[in-house]
Amino acid sequence: MARIYIPYGTTEGQTAKIAQYISDVVQAHGHHAETADIKQSGDAIPDGYDAVIVGASVHLGKHEDYVRDFVRANSDVLKRLPSALFSVSLAAHGDTENAESYVENFEAETGWRPAQVGLFGGALLYTQYGFIKRHVMKKIASDKGTLDTDTSRDYVYTEWDGVKRFAEDFLSSL
Ligand SMILES: Cc1cc2nc3c(=O)[nH]c(=O)nc-3n(C[C@H](O)[C@H](O)[C@H](O)COP(=O)(O)O)c2cc1C
Repeated sequence: MARIYIPYGTTEGQTAKIAQYISDVVQAHGHHAETADIKQSGDAIPDGYDAVIVGASVHLGKHEDYVRDFVRANSDVLKRLPSALFSVSLAAHGDTENAESYVENFEAETGWRPAQVGLFGGALLYTQYGFIKRHVMKKIASDKGTLDTDTSRDYVYTEWDGVKRFAEDFLSSL
């Protein structure tokens, strides 16, 4: 049985849901998994884990600064243990080139080049955004053309089958 630590950064909650889903997949395969919201858990990776899967989401063109700091602070552990990154963004839904460029920038900033990277579509939570954010996000969605623009409801673009495959590929690489 492997022990897998899943620290993540999230702003509106979608990355937390994906981290939990990965944890469920890992546990369904008989392993131990622990998710941790980096904002609360801080920068330390507790002892006793065999592998780490880091999650982060993209806002205004980059992943959370505190996830970047977490990765920098733990670069020795992340390079020593099997580790993977999953990146959550709207670009991952239909604009893979951009989604990849966010990850390339993150790798350049942190010096960590994980062997496995998952790019997952995030969510457009129109009903939960304030007035300005809702209109900015609608404009971005409309410019992109691949995203929904009815602000009376929310949209989730995460493809859960892809998340499951990512988690299972990671497990089989251990
Ligand atoms: C203010 C704001 C800015 C965003 N900027 C980007 C962006 O630059 N590129 C992108 O692909 N997605 C962008 N997104 C989409 C988020 O990545 C998506 O909503 C994701 O689900 C957020 O994950 P979280 O809920 O874990 O924070 C943005 C979302 C918001 C609300």
